[in-house]
Amino acid sequence: MNTQYARQVGAGDARSVIYILHHWVRSDGTPLYCEIRTIADHIDASILGIDDRIYFVAMAGERVVGIIGYRPLPDYLCNYAETDSAVEVVNFFVHKDHLRCGHGSVLLNKVRDFVYKRGFREILVCSGPRYKDSHGFYDAQGQQIATIPNHFGHGHDARIWRLRLDP
Ligand SMILES: CC(C)(COP(=O)(O)OP(=O)(O)OC[C@H]1O[C@@H](n2cnc3c(N)ncnc32)[C@H](O)[C@@H]1OP(=O)(O)O)[C@@H](O)C(=O)NCCC(=O)NCCS
Repeated sequence: MNTQYARQVGAGDARSVIYILHHWVRSDGTPLYCEIRTIADHIDASILGIDDRIYFVAMAGERVVGIIGYRPLPDYLCNYAETDSAVEVVNFFVHKDHLRCGHGSVLLNKVRDFVYKRGFREILVCSGPRYKDSHGFYDAQGQQIATIPNHFGHGHDARIWRLRLDP
């Protein structure tokens, strides 16, 4: 039986998701509580259907081991889209003890399928130095197309990838 899959986030997932966020959403080792709260608020609103983001969780059996969201393209990314049917992937995190087990790929493929069925033809990702260890994953999934200098503060450039979105 395949116990590795992704599904839309639900109210009962909050505790596991917050645990995952606490590990990754940090600066110099300290959790960024405001940023974590903001992401959690988006997830709660998404569950209620009142947010412009949609989130999915990765499951390993009955355990939540990852989270991913997508949203309409923000203005600052519009210039980087090739089409007018693009979305941005946001808040993409796999539990630290479950990296390199395929959960990230399962989550991203879930978003790919979901948005493709809804008429979107392009996914962009914007990521900065805080998450530089993940950039190899995006390089494997798509094409790096631009850098926005100092986007995340002085000396903290943003990189942008366009991810494949095949039928
Ligand atoms: C990015 C992330 C979500 C990927 O999830 P994952 O479950 O570890 O990825 P997968 O197991 O599906 O990886 C599939 C393939 O992608 C590539 N890949 C994955 N992570 C990689 C990395 N850090 N560097 C280079 N290639 C990587 C590999 O080819 C891998 O296959 P392999 O393990 O057989 O070699 C995960 O590393 C993560 O949560 N990172 C910390 C948080 C973060 O930086 N998030 C991104 C914010 S922008």
